[in-house]
Amino acid sequence: MDPPFNSNRNYNQIFSDKGRQSQAQIMVFEDTWNWNSDVERSFVEAVKYSKNDKVSSFLIAMREILGGTTVMAYLTMMAPRLLELHRVLKPTGSIYLHCDTNSSHYLKLLMDAIFGIRNFRNEIIWKRTSAHNDPKRFGSNVDRILFYTKGQKWIWNQLYQPYDPKYLKRFRHRDSNGRLWTDGNLTAKGLSGGGYDYEYRGIHSLWRVPLATMKNLDAEDRLHFTKNGGIRVKQYLDESKGVPLQCVWDDIPPVNSQSKERIGYPTQKPVALLERLILASSNENDVILDPFCGCGTSIAAAERLKRHWIGIDVTHIAITTIKERLHRTSDRSLVACHMCMGLNRIRVIGVERDRRILDYEFLHPPTICLSQHGVMWGTTKGPGLKKIKAVSVLTPILFG
Ligand SMILES: C[S@@+](CC[C@H](N)C(=O)[O-])C[C@H]1O[C@@H](n2cnc3c(N)ncnc32)[C@H](O)[C@@H]1O
Repeated sequence: MDPPFNSNRNYNQIFSDKGRQSQAQIMVFEDTWNWNSDVERSFVEAVKYSKNDKVSSFLIAMREILGGTTVMAYLTMMAPRLLELHRVLKPTGSIYLHCDTNSSHYLKLLMDAIFGIRNFRNEIIWKRTSAHNDPKRFGSNVDRILFYTKGQKWIWNQLYQPYDPKYLKRFRHRDSNGRLWTDGNLTAKGLSGGGYDYEYRGIHSLWRVPLATMKNLDAEDRLHFTKNGGIRVKQYLDESKGVPLQCVWDDIPPVNSQSKERIGYPTQKPVALLERLILASSNENDVILDPFCGCGTSIAAAERLKRHWIGIDVTHIAITTIKERLHRTSDRSLVACHMCMGLNRIRVIGVERDRRILDYEFLHPPTICLSQHGVMWGTTKGPGLKKIKAVSVLTPILFG
């Protein structure tokens, strides 16, 4: 999820008219937060209804420290939403919260309170632009992505990044059928945890592998007998997957004015970034929920990777943009819902796949409901649920 960052800016969408070189802009969403009587009321409700003492304590403590500031208004908005996301997340699920340095440290504490310190996995640093000219300070050119899991067992598909060219130069041997290899250490000297003490082909050492494995490696012609009388193991380049992906990501460029994938939606993130997160933490047919989906980068990535998805955004422009985006890339029919996710209530109006009309209002705290269909809305559980007749369409949702 990629919520507003508390950046104190308003964001415009740019519509370009290619034929005429003209550009029109429309304001899409505001990322300015103010403390006012509504927020004060939401704060009281969030403290009262959070059902999580740590979150209540966090909000009260932050209010002590920060007072009625913009950051506090922002945290008051985020707390009930993160609680809901924790509730609907599967036991083996993961959550990625994209934020910047304005609020990441506060959000980290809030996430610790909701998901638990033990379930914090990484802070990913994404280099979002090559350089930033910030007067009289170091250029601020990274975002952060906080990665938590719901529990101690989670879906994980290890991803790899290509080797550094300098490292590749180490594969300088070539065997008879042209395969490149380098040699790796086979001795266990200096390793904690001991090793296997024996002699092999007249060479005595403390080895990393037991004798049976050593014999197998020899039979497969994977041992390299060095001039100095040592034994090393052959490591083939074509068998190496690469370096396990680390948490500093500087290989995914931002969506800039020249990018092919650019839609014109402000704050649009690169598909490669979302694909990486989705690939690491889910499998085909799993459900991806993005509650601040913007122009649907996560949705497009999920669709391409054959995941089910739910996208929520407060603006209709976002949803219209996603529909157009998906119509270009997918032939599946889309069903839209609309939901008002105010600070203290959610109203859902929409159409299920079987054409049933949804028309519900969920009162304190905001509730996201997943249906028996596995994909989307519908359960009538939750405190303060009230069926309503009036139609108020504020937050649109797409699902597929
Ligand atoms: C940073 S943008 C997300 C950009 C997105 N990752 C993309 O690649 O297009 C944040 C989005 O959150 C939406 N938003 C703001 N407040 C919201 C709320 N209360 N509920 C749902 N969406 C909200 C905004 O309309 C905006 O599209």
